[in-house]
Amino acid sequence: MRKLYFILAFTAFGFNAFGQKTIDQRVSELLSEMTLEEKVGQLIQYSGFDYATGPQNSSSATVLEEIKKGKVGSMLNVAGAQETKKFQELALKSRLKIPLLFGQDVIHGYRTTFPVNLGQAASWDLKLIEKSERIAATEASAYGIHWTFAPMVDITRDPRWGRVMEGSGEDTYLGSQIGMARIKGFQGKGLGNLDAIMACAKHFAAYGAAIGGRDYNSVDMSLRQLHETYLPPFKAAAEAGVATFMNSFNDINGIPATANQYIVRNLLKNQWKYKGFVVSDWGSIGEMIPHGYAKDYKEAAEKAINAGTDMDMESRAYMAELPKLVKEGKVDPKLIDDAARRILLKKFEMGLFDDPYRFSNEKRQKEQLNNQENRKFGREFGSKSIVLLKNEKNILPLSKSIKTVALIGPFGKETVANHGFWSIAFKDDNQRIVTQFDGIKNQLDKNSTLLYAKGANVDDQDQSMFAEAIETAKKADVVIMTLGEGHAMSGEAKSRSNIRFSGVQEDLLKEVAKTGKPIILMINAGRPLVFDWAADNIPAIVYTWWLGTEAGNSIADVLFGNVNPGGKLPMTFPRTEGQIPAYYNYYNTGRPAKSNKDRNYVSAYIDLDNDPKFPFGYGLSYTQFKYSEINLSSTNLKGNQTLNIIVDISNTGNYDGEEVVQLYIRDLFGKVIRPVKELKGFQKIFIKKGETKSVNFTLTPENLKFYDDELNYDWEEGDFDIMVGTDSQNVQTKRIYWSK
Ligand code: NOJ
Repeated sequence: MRKLYFILAFTAFGFNAFGQKTIDQRVSELLSEMTLEEKVGQLIQYSGFDYATGPQNSSSATVLEEIKKGKVGSMLNVAGAQETKKFQELALKSRLKIPLLFGQDVIHGYRTTFPVNLGQAASWDLKLIEKSERIAATEASAYGIHWTFAPMVDITRDPRWGRVMEGSGEDTYLGSQIGMARIKGFQGKGLGNLDAIMACAKHFAAYGAAIGGRDYNSVDMSLRQLHETYLPPFKAAAEAGVATFMNSFNDINGIPATANQYIVRNLLKNQWKYKGFVVSDWGSIGEMIPHGYAKDYKEAAEKAINAGTDMDMESRAYMAELPKLVKEGKVDPKLIDDAARRILLKKFEMGLFDDPYRFSNEKRQKEQLNNQENRKFGREFGSKSIVLLKNEKNILPLSKSIKTVALIGPFGKETVANHGFWSIAFKDDNQRIVTQFDGIKNQLDKNSTLLYAKGANVDDQDQSMFAEAIETAKKADVVIMTLGEGHAMSGEAKSRSNIRFSGVQEDLLKEVAKTGKPIILMINAGRPLVFDWAADNIPAIVYTWWLGTEAGNSIADVLFGNVNPGGKLPMTFPRTEGQIPAYYNYYNTGRPAKSNKDRNYVSAYIDLDNDPKFPFGYGLSYTQFKYSEINLSSTNLKGNQTLNIIVDISNTGNYDGEEVVQLYIRDLFGKVIRPVKELKGFQKIFIKKGETKSVNFTLTPENLKFYDDELNYDWEEGDFDIMVGTDSQNVQTKRIYWSK
């Protein structure tokens, strides 16, 4: 007991149980020695100069001088053991020798790139996703990186928005689960470990709802929708201990997120009690001027710091204006202290005050340069992210002894493209990528032949290569077409109004199809594309996204059946752009269509079927899974009881395989309307051919809660449909009553 008192007394005075100062105490002491300018300095972040991920403002000479004066807290886009060491040396020349934080967009892998994030989400495999971030953190930290600007947990319902590639798709539940797995992966056993980097939940908030899918655009939505659909992944991230948050570029209902008191100060920092720090997005403090929310940098800085934005990425507003604003009494100095404290805390937690160079280690960097184990994982992860959309007459998997295969399309021998957008650390890293051609060639029997024709460029009107492609197809027993959108056509500032195959690729496909050869279409993209003609006319379609360093091997593993595809779509695939936004958890309306073709005074388009081309959660396998009738522990529940849902899944086909079993509910009537379906659980299970496995889900009233029009979060008694199935359309339903 005495020992406990001793410990409590000690920690209350800022010491830990061993008599060492706690981090809080060390931060307080440091803050007490800092001038206002030095504190503001901690809130400043500039980009390095080798490459920029936004419109750069700062000239190298001034930035270097400012680092030496202690006027910079963090750099982004400075990477590599040597380079980070050089910058850190400058910071240590400052009066208080406060080390810099190095941040970078480590989005889907680092030295080893993995599938683009939307593709990863298609794996529905939280363990693989977490592991990929563990690897990314290990590689990035070995390159001197302390902090990644990931995960992006924006919910995305509009495939025109280029950034859908960076998120987990349209569903709030799936997106929250994946966000948490990523944070766990990045932050590993905790900050302070050499292989852990700080994660960042972005973009706070609702960036995915930018009007018309146009990047940087406004967001206008009810607070209820914001809380129900867009905020839960952020709340989950805060609860999972994410080290930082990033503002979004958009305004929300007329107030830019960067200075949004309600979102940042009230919700995140006060209600959610978030203790990490908030960084602006690139230049987003200054961008409040063109938004029409601040007349100059001074007003922008005032509004942003008051709202709770702690660090200024590349605006130059804070450095120039905050000291003045404090002196004029317009900004409370306590806010500057609070922002600096949050940032310094992270620097202490990362161990940078004990050794500022601990992440800048050339030996570690070398070990991660071309790590074979990581590549092996990348190959597996790639194959598990692929979604099989169509497979008529079981044309797939291909036999390795097919005599002649033709690979046709602009992506067949592409190298860097396989990385997808946000692979900035490897711009010219061609030689490490396994091309699709090489991947397929390596697995074909020695006596078989792989022919190749490019057929078309990614994005122009040139048809001069068609003839060669047609001739090549004619010589083959089977044709693999590799089409899609350019790797840099999805990502930041890559919104598209037309989301079809770019250039003349669809024309090429139609011409090759005229040869009558069996065609397998492989679609390379960072978003759901519209490919109605192909979906109706081509017998086999695999969606390969952009798979990263091992792309060719991952693809060949699926084409030849080493891996049985088990991916499921994390976003709805619309029939045409006119159907956007298309998402599975819509409201029924007062006039729902009774069928796909029902257009008689109902909520439908007169010129389009109602349902999407491929629904959320959809994906085929080389085998077949048969679901038993679902078994409920009760159909009449009361209060805090638990509902058990059991379903048996049998693998009745010819291959072992993985299935993602999905649980949805519908709350039939409420004081506010509930969606026709809401995902409440999923399980990815492996079943050997001929075997059966039981899958068990549980639901409690906690899973039934929703936000009403006054933002109360609770559940109501009444009827609920419980649905289990292989995708969001293909479910079996049982009704229950749950009373309070
Ligand atoms: C702008 C992007 O919106 C953000 O996601 C990214 O982290 C920063 N630029 C830094 O590159």
